[in-house]
Amino acid sequence: MTGYRIRPASESDGPALYELWQGLRQHNATVDRRVIPAPVAESEFIVDFREVLARPRSAAFVAAVDTSLAGFIAGTIERNLPDRLPAEHATVGYLWVEERFRRQGIARALFAEVTGWARSQNGVSHFEMAVLSADDAAAGFWRSIGFSPFIERLWAPLGGAEEDA
Ligand SMILES: CC(C)(COP(=O)(O)OP(=O)(O)OC[C@H]1O[C@@H](n2cnc3c(N)ncnc32)[C@H](O)[C@@H]1OP(=O)(O)O)[C@@H](O)C(=O)NCCC(=O)NCCS
Repeated sequence: MTGYRIRPASESDGPALYELWQGLRQHNATVDRRVIPAPVAESEFIVDFREVLARPRSAAFVAAVDTSLAGFIAGTIERNLPDRLPAEHATVGYLWVEERFRRQGIARALFAEVTGWARSQNGVSHFEMAVLSADDAAAGFWRSIGFSPFIERLWAPLGGAEEDA
């Protein structure tokens, strides 16, 4: 069992988080080839990351093992469609645990931290989020902490159903 510590992400985590985030994006592209990661340089990532840290309605936490990172989570508050209540919900934009640290409760601990943060946000009482249908591990994780399928996002090429997906 690895000793890890969950803490809020800080600016100095930027370069390490960029590496983890690239791993996450590569993972998603491998799970489903319709996911095409846009090229994002480390410098661009760092600028965006600083903005996220400054946003009161967003939060990011890392799982630190010694001086390196085993995983991270990023949460934010989103507006719902204007015709559906409640007006806002919490969402998890990114969640990643490095392969060698998996199945040790790190994702669960990261999610608990985001949940605590989301509870402190006025008017927010639930989570909604997108997940890749083909990612069985992710589905297993979300199910294990109480998520259930809600709205499904469908995909089709403009050329028609007979074209390759
Ligand atoms: C999904 C992911 C975040 C889980 O991280 P983790 O730290 O291994 O998860 P935990 O150890 O906290 O697991 C908690 C529970 O979730 C479930 N779970 C986790 N991984 C699972 C898997 N591969 N298959 C089925 N269930 C799984 C189990 O019930 C597990 O409890 P258990 O180990 O006692 O059986 C990790 O596998 C990952 O980073 N995957 C790639 C990126 C990703 O899918 N991100 C989430 C989508 S946004």
